[in-house]
Amino acid sequence: MKTVLIVDHDEGMRENLAVILRRDYRVLRVATGEAALQVMEKEDVELMLLDVRLPGIGGFEVLKIARENYPSVEVIITSAVRDLDAAIEAMRYGAYHYISKDFDHEAIRSLVAKASERQDLNRDVVRLRAEVSERVDREFVVGPSRRTREIVELVQKVAKLSATVLILGESGTGKELLARLVHRGAGVPDAPFVAVNLAAIPRELVESTLFGHEKGSFTGAIRQQLGKFELAAGGTLFLDEVGDLRYDLQAKLLRALQEGEIERIGGTHPIKTSFRLIAATNVDLDKAIKSGTFREDLYYRLNVIPLKMPALRDRIEDLPDLVRFFLRRYNLKFRKNILGIADSSLEILNAYWWPGNIRELENLIERLVAVSDKDWITDEDLPYELHMARLSASETKSDKLLERAVSTFERNFIVRALEKEDWNVTATARTLGVPLSTLKFKMDKLEIRELARKVRGN
Ligand SMILES: Nc1ncnc2c1ncn2[C@@H]1O[C@H](COP(=O)(O)OP(=O)(O)OP(=O)(O)O)[C@@H](O)[C@H]1O
Ligand SMILES: [Mg+2]
Repeated sequence: MKTVLIVDHDEGMRENLAVILRRDYRVLRVATGEAALQVMEKEDVELMLLDVRLPGIGGFEVLKIARENYPSVEVIITSAVRDLDAAIEAMRYGAYHYISKDFDHEAIRSLVAKASERQDLNRDVVRLRAEVSERVDREFVVGPSRRTREIVELVQKVAKLSATVLILGESGTGKELLARLVHRGAGVPDAPFVAVNLAAIPRELVESTLFGHEKGSFTGAIRQQLGKFELAAGGTLFLDEVGDLRYDLQAKLLRALQEGEIERIGGTHPIKTSFRLIAATNVDLDKAIKSGTFREDLYYRLNVIPLKMPALRDRIEDLPDLVRFFLRRYNLKFRKNILGIADSSLEILNAYWWPGNIRELENLIERLVAVSDKDWITDEDLPYELHMARLSASETKSDKLLERAVSTFERNFIVRALEKEDWNVTATARTLGVPLSTLKFKMDKLEIRELARKVRGN
């Protein structure tokens, strides 16, 4: 049963309302605004019937305080017929509705029931939102490495500032996920997060995507379109691959940031806009500035708070946590139940260079889970490049570095050739231009025979 608080100076009215509502609600009654505020502090009030005319603290005041401190409480204003204007005004301050005091019983019951429904709906929305934002947290694996921990601490510090953030890092290191973490850390659950990948939009559409356009401003502009700058108002605009932005648009972006206003293509007046900008890039902007493809002034404007996402190979201690996380994710997706990965396989993953970073790791685990029907992932499940990487990693420590590098290359080369010829040794020897006996000798020496047997499935 929900709790309704009736606030009315007229005792008869309080009694009247209580009788109507007692069957469906727990009813509390007070005569003044002061008393109402006291009760709200102590009790879990959910709905309130509030008279606008009260001695002492007025009804409006109570309404305002309630909306600020107990935003989930739905307020219905009750008023004498001659005060209806004031009651209507109260809705602008967040009252759910108003009703005049010559109401009939049914009208009041149904109005309170509707207010209660809306409250439940709002609660669902709040709960869903909390779940979504919690999901971002849960999706962001932090791991034990110092560098990742530092980044996350920094994010917590800067998230609440409105300053521009520039996220640098190789492809697949989690730049977009980090941007979402910054956005969420700002603590405005309703605010939009608008992501634009500048590398993925056709060149000729970049400008209208960002700035929007008026109907008829160019061929194909069949209707007015809001730009991403406007869509991000009050929230975060995430500009991914900002290093790819056309040189002339860099100037326009800079102006938009400095002046806080933009103009749609074909527009006749500037439009105020305010958003937090997070930019990301995987190119070296210093180099781009030197080569004249990126504006230095824009760089300084973007680089207020730089966050550098480390490559996976530089935070390799985080790998086991990430593997566990992705195993869980793809077990769920593919309805599998892979329990884990063998220690020796984890070592192989640790030795790999991960040029595609976390995205590459995620794709690998996804593929492994999709095709595997074993309990554990073991060495032979891992693709060939990863085995090779371990070989060369252990060899960097050896003295015969060049010799080993050459045989690593040679092995790699031969395996590729064999793959091309469907592991037919005679055909491969012909392709490589060596006698069959030489190829066989090399396959023994470079331990390719074992691999060949496995591939041929015997
Ligand atoms: N810390 C992390 N925890 C869990 N998953 C992560 C983490 N970082 C990245 N990922 C996952 O890796 C993938 C790549 O991340 P994201 O798209 O954020 O990278 P990016 O740096 O923007 O890549 P690109 O430069 O290619 O656009 C995503 O699927 C993301 O969910
Ligand atoms: Mg990205």
